[in-house]
Amino acid sequence: MTSIDTTLGDTKEPRLLRFLQSRYLELIGSIYIYNEHRGYTAIDQVLRAVRARWPEDLKLIAEIEKHRGDEQKHYLMFRRWFERRGVMPFKIDRACGHIDRFIEIMFGARIDELQPERMIGDGALFARLCRIISLTEKRGYRQVEILLRNRIVQSDRGLMKIFRIIEADEPSHWAPYDGWLEANAKRDSAWWERALDRMIHSELLLVKLPFLFFSSRLPRRADWADEHDDADRLPGKPFKSTAAV
Ligand SMILES: [Fe+2]
Ligand SMILES: [Fe+2]
Repeated sequence: MTSIDTTLGDTKEPRLLRFLQSRYLELIGSIYIYNEHRGYTAIDQVLRAVRARWPEDLKLIAEIEKHRGDEQKHYLMFRRWFERRGVMPFKIDRACGHIDRFIEIMFGARIDELQPERMIGDGALFARLCRIISLTEKRGYRQVEILLRNRIVQSDRGLMKIFRIIEADEPSHWAPYDGWLEANAKRDSAWWERALDRMIHSELLLVKLPFLFFSSRLPRRADWADEHDDADRLPGKPFKSTAAV
C-alpha cells in the first residue's frame, strides 16, 4: 500500500508541474499573440495616415511598413505555435495590452477610436504617439531578453525560437519613431512617461498575470484574431488633448 502511494505521489507531482508549466507558457503565448495582433492592426492606422500626410517620405513609410510586417510575422509565429500544440490561445483582452493601456491613459481613447489622420496634422499629438510606440517597443525588447533567460521558456524550443526572432527584430521597431522625433526637433520621452510605461508593465506582470494564471475559468478563444482584420475598427472618436506633450 505504501509503495503504491509513493508511486502515485511521484507521478502526480511531475504531471502537476507539467500542467502548471504548460499553463504558464500558454498564458505568455496568449498575451503575446494578443499584443502582436494589436500591434500590427494599430500600425496599419498609423501607416495609412503617414502615407496620406507625407507621401514623399519613402524612408519613414518603408520603416513603418517593415515594423508592421514584423508584428504580423510575430503574430503568425505564435499562431503556428498554438496550432502545433493543438490548443487555442486564452481569451486575453485589452486589459493585457501594453499599448492599449498606454494609449488609453495618454489619449483618453481606445486605439480603435484614435484618428491618426487628424493626429498627424498636429505635431505635438503625433510626437506623443511616437514616444508611446517607442517606449512600448523598447519595453518589449527588454521583456524578451528576460524571457529568453527564463527556465520554463527555455524548456520549449519553439517558443525560444520565436523569442530569438523577436529579439532580433525589435531594435528596428522604435527607430522610425525616434527618428521622426529627432528630425522634427521633438523632445524624447519624459520621466513621467517612462514611469507610466513601468507602471503598466508592473501591473501586467505582478497583478494581471498571476490573476489569470490562478483563474480557474479562463476561457480560450474560439477563433483567430486575424480572421476579423479590418472588421474590428470602431468609428473614430475624438481624443483628449493634454498640455504635457
Ligand atoms: Fe512583435
Ligand atoms: Fe515590436
